[in-house]
Amino acid sequence: MELDIAIVTHTLPGASFGAGLDLTKLSVQRLFDTLEQEPERLSQLLNDSGGLLVIRRLNAIIDDPQLLVRLSQFLGPEVEDYYQTLTGKRFFHDSIPELLVLSNRPPCNHPPPARPDPEVEPIGIFPTRFPNRRGWHTDQSYRRPPPDVSLLFAVQCPPADQGQTLYADTTAAYETLDARFKKQLDKLYGIHAPSWIGRSERAVRAGETPAALLPHQRPQRHPLVRVHPCTGRRALYLCEDGQMDYVDGPIEGMERGPDGAGAQLVRELLEHATQPKFCYRHEWQVGDLVIGDNRCLLHAPTWYDADTYTRLMWRTTVMGNAGAEYAGEEKSWISSQGYQPMHGMEDV
Ligand SMILES: [Fe+2]
Repeated sequence: MELDIAIVTHTLPGASFGAGLDLTKLSVQRLFDTLEQEPERLSQLLNDSGGLLVIRRLNAIIDDPQLLVRLSQFLGPEVEDYYQTLTGKRFFHDSIPELLVLSNRPPCNHPPPARPDPEVEPIGIFPTRFPNRRGWHTDQSYRRPPPDVSLLFAVQCPPADQGQTLYADTTAAYETLDARFKKQLDKLYGIHAPSWIGRSERAVRAGETPAALLPHQRPQRHPLVRVHPCTGRRALYLCEDGQMDYVDGPIEGMERGPDGAGAQLVRELLEHATQPKFCYRHEWQVGDLVIGDNRCLLHAPTWYDADTYTRLMWRTTVMGNAGAEYAGEEKSWISSQGYQPMHGMEDV
């Protein structure tokens, strides 16, 4: 069948999950024509690849960013309108409300992520593992229902070996745990909160007073183990300290705070899930698109020389298929008083 000839996938270097979609012999127009004939195809490819797809040479999106929105529409019921989220306006694209802009340049002014500490692991392999590597998260987990899929596109990026994005396969990480431990985890809920409301591990340790929150800004609980609505596979769902609640959590019903049993469990699971064998490192080139399923992956950005280089990424998020846990729920972040973002740093 012609479609099978047109879309060719390959494995990703150094990764046990994910797939690259080869556009060498396929124009962008032909890609869209193919997907419009078979709209489920991109989601199927994503699910079959364990939640990670890389498509290179999509430079046409730079001149026509609406193409990124169109592509996103193949991955779920709703491409998010960022004007309706908690995100500050300086992170929006000027004319396309579905595009989040991530950059170290104004008006975003995202600082670069920290280098790993220590910078190189003793065995000399690329450092992925928490807590040596920091910044592991899943996008916007402080909202319910959380977004399903993130599409991250490189408009400008630093040279190779800087500003990468790391992805960790939390399905494989879950499946390799002891059966009895998995059963315990299946019953637990994590409490997720953005980093700037005084509930992160760092803020609690520093003695900050948690911010007063409106109802639509409050932390949200999610299963620690999510069942993927398309594949039925279970995956760990948690974030690092900057995106969980260390005042009332991070794990519901467990000892609270940065030194409590809940925090120890989060650290143990992150250390397990971010081992190099579960990770893929994406070296960005201009025109790259990485599609990542937040329901079954963690990701983390890496350091780059932000004084010398500009990193400009566009991101869309697709929602509407979070699974049975969220069936029929209203969006937690919609305020009865219209657009009311939280001011502070957005995750990357
Ligand atoms: Fe992110």
